[in-house]
Amino acid sequence: MKFLNKSIYKTFEYLFDELAEYYQFLYPNIGELNFNIAKELDSKILKPIKARKILDCTCGIGLLAIELSKLGYEVAGSDISNRMLENAVDNANKAGTKVKFVHSNILNLSKNIEEKFDVVICKGNSFSNINPEAFEEALENISSVLNKNGICYIDIRNHEEVIKQKPLFEHRSHVRLNSKDVVCFYIFDYKENLRTYNTFFVFYDRKTNTISHKLISIDGFFVFKKDLIRAFEKAGFKDIKKIKFDSESKDVDIYVGKKI
Ligand SMILES: C[S@@+](CC[C@H](N)C(=O)[O-])C[C@H]1O[C@@H](n2cnc3c(N)ncnc32)[C@H](O)[C@@H]1O
Repeated sequence: MKFLNKSIYKTFEYLFDELAEYYQFLYPNIGELNFNIAKELDSKILKPIKARKILDCTCGIGLLAIELSKLGYEVAGSDISNRMLENAVDNANKAGTKVKFVHSNILNLSKNIEEKFDVVICKGNSFSNINPEAFEEALENISSVLNKNGICYIDIRNHEEVIKQKPLFEHRSHVRLNSKDVVCFYIFDYKENLRTYNTFFVFYDRKTNTISHKLISIDGFFVFKKDLIRAFEKAGFKDIKKIKFDSESKDVDIYVGKKI
């Protein structure tokens, strides 16, 4: 990993550790979403190449890995955040599935993971937490844990559209718990090559009639199609395609490439 890049990943690790506790509020239908994505992955990518082993290299709280494991695949998950991984282990235990979880930055996959996989997944716009200067290095690391002809799958928000629209606000969710309401939204700040997701969680306690909040601000670099495809090519992938999944929201693009 390039020396200059190191400190931003320490910051990402710290921020995603903080976010782990609140992650369920960002995506209240995350269980159903991952169930549907796993089914679509199964029919459109995994079955056609007769995949057996899968790595989700930004697995977060592990729900996609768990769904894929339930479908009979041998699955591993890795992530830069230990807190996310702790939740992933709990979720896998609750689901009664066997998923192996490993702490690793994408940029260190080649050092931390010896096994090889048929498919490596990087989902949830996670590639935008890689500095664009390191896209190629990230894809080389992914390639290092893929079998020959293995597939790399990356989903990313359509950032060409994001910089056209530059939305300032996005409402994410409103979750009603037993005695609390949780409202979650982003307020965005734009800089040259990234936007900051100022992520607000507002808690309203109905019993005590009190409001509290938590703010976590995480940068997301813009990932443009041309840069991502160039990085795929330089890292030695072929048959690079942009595809769409019915189970993903319309503003999410999926890129797949095959390891030569
Ligand atoms: C938005 S979350 C997506 C999590 C999960 N894939 C999902 O779809 O719910 C981004 C995840 O990527 C992880 N992440 C960010 N940068 C990373 C890096 N350089 N290497 C590995 N994981 C990283 C974060 O810790 C977090 O769990």
